Amino acid sequence: MAHSLVTVVGAGNVGASVAQRVAEAGLADVVLVDIVEGLPQGKALDLAEAAPVVGHDMKIMGTNDYADTAGSDVIVVTSGLPRTPGMSRDDLLAKNAGIVRSVVQQAAAHSPDAILIIVTNPLDAMCHVALEASAFSPERVIGMAGVLDSARFRSFIAQELGVSVTSTHAFVLGGHGDTMVPLPRFSTAGGVPITELLDQERIDALVTRTRNGGAEVVALLKSGSAFYAPAASVARMVDSILNDRNEILPCAAYLQGEYGVDGLFVGVPVKLGRTGITQVVEIDLQDDERAAFDQSAAAVRELVEAMSRMSAAG
Ligand SMILES: NC(=O)c1ccc[n+]([C@@H]2O[C@H](COP(=O)([O-])OP(=O)(O)OC[C@H]3O[C@@H](n4cnc5c(N)ncnc54)[C@H](O)[C@@H]3O)[C@@H](O)[C@H]2O)c1
Repeated sequence: MAHSLVTVVGAGNVGASVAQRVAEAGLADVVLVDIVEGLPQGKALDLAEAAPVVGHDMKIMGTNDYADTAGSDVIVVTSGLPRTPGMSRDDLLAKNAGIVRSVVQQAAAHSPDAILIIVTNPLDAMCHVALEASAFSPERVIGMAGVLDSARFRSFIAQELGVSVTSTHAFVLGGHGDTMVPLPRFSTAGGVPITELLDQERIDALVTRTRNGGAEVVALLKSGSAFYAPAASVARMVDSILNDRNEILPCAAYLQGEYGVDGLFVGVPVKLGRTGITQVVEIDLQDDERAAFDQSAAAVRELVEAMSRMSAAG
């Protein structure tokens, strides 16, 4: 049987790690694309040379030409610039919006039936750019954030309780960033809500650490940001899509009335299968959770509006 094909745009830390995980898990052949000549080719060659040791037969190629990505089943977009000293958030927003627009237009033209997974930050705003640039239907444009955020929450819960991470489940809603909404009453160890297992003070500390999860890694690394857990999170989404698992995973999805939000990408639980998002799973929120979710959605809307103003201003 022919292998599936995954294109990963951006051969930096996240992109190369996604390529490695996807190939080594035997999920698909991989094409790695970057604007820098030699970088995707070199990383792809190195990854291909690991294949005999790891024992997989997935093909991995690196390229600067989107023609090589034709017929991809999934396109993962990790290309972008990091924020550098002196660069404002708006500058970064404008620069990465330009990069995401250009790569999505090129990749989507060669793979009109693909599912897009967006990783580049600011995540929720970049999903809007990708939706517009691809002209794909919304269920085929998905942002990766919630799988990572809930993985961070799960790892902190497991450490706190001294249990296996595999016994934990965590639930995180909202935008990717300071306003994300971890939901303790749906976060469990062995099926038991952590609200039954930990006092409020401990739970608050875990929630705060989850919200600051990205910044905690950045502060330690000094340059660059997290990539192992982000890449693992993308690979999990790719697995659910290519194997049509319909796993319920928290992802940034284009809401059209669900959770009372219309026309905005926000993190919610979705079923992920071969056609992309097959269902947005809605749950009833308590008043405090609803307020936090609304605040998070408002922060995403503000970013999207800032982006529209920038593009209107040229
Ligand atoms: N959504 C999340 O949860 C999450 C998690 C981690 C990182 N991120 C984001 O993912 C992005 C990538 O992070 P990273 O650590 O891999 O960064 P990185 O700097 O290591 O890699 C980015 C790559 O993009 C490439 N690139 C830039 N412009 C391009 C273009 N026009 N076409 C093709 N490639 C281009 C660069 O050459 C570089 O190789 C960042 O925006 C980061 O903030 C998001």
